[in-house]
Amino acid sequence: MTKSRNIVVIAASLRRGNSERLGDAFIEGARAAGHHVEKISLQTKKIRYCTGCEACAVTGLCVFSDDAPDIAEKIMNADAVVFALPVYFGSIPGQLKTLFDRMTPYFRKPYRFRKVVVLACADQDRRDMFTGVKQSVESWLYAFSKAKLTDTLFVGGVNHAGDIEGHPALKQAEALGKNLYSIQP
Ligand SMILES: Cc1cc2nc3c(=O)[nH]c(=O)nc-3n(C[C@H](O)[C@H](O)[C@H](O)COP(=O)(O)O)c2cc1C
Repeated sequence: MTKSRNIVVIAASLRRGNSERLGDAFIEGARAAGHHVEKISLQTKKIRYCTGCEACAVTGLCVFSDDAPDIAEKIMNADAVVFALPVYFGSIPGQLKTLFDRMTPYFRKPYRFRKVVVLACADQDRRDMFTGVKQSVESWLYAFSKAKLTDTLFVGGVNHAGDIEGHPALKQAEALGKNLYSIQP
């Protein structure tokens, strides 16, 4: 039995679609392995754009008090963070990018998370659809250099919400959740 960890899963699609389903399969596996998992769906969250005002460089706090600080705190205090996301124009969706931007006040603060996982869905079944996703997440991780993008699951060929039902990737996501900490401590 592996030690129980705190895992935060960010469901970044604004519809209840393929990537959220992939995230749910991961959660099933992670909970079966005894981990504590919190799912945060961006569907109901209000996250304003970063305006680049630089107030956070002085105060350490964002001038906006919407849902972003609460989500950011949960990410900072998790052991692992999972982004379940749709590919939009070869990259991450805008709502997740906005959350990344709004985490600027946290760049110099202590953080616990070390593992980052990306579960991504795209219409086109082409590996290069995911290059931009990986690049975006890794660019954000420059600011959190003790954390690494350790696991990715990219699923192409799913377009309409529900297309992923019955896809073997769901089992892979579940296995990933179950085994996330079974190899490395
Ligand atoms: C604004 C927008 C942009 C998209 N861009 C791409 C793309 O660049 N490549 C691709 O293969 N699919 C693209 N898609 C399709 C989605 O990635 C696909 O439908 C995915 O399954 C959506 O995941 P979801 O159901 O979790 O929202 C795009 C969809 C939307 C709405």
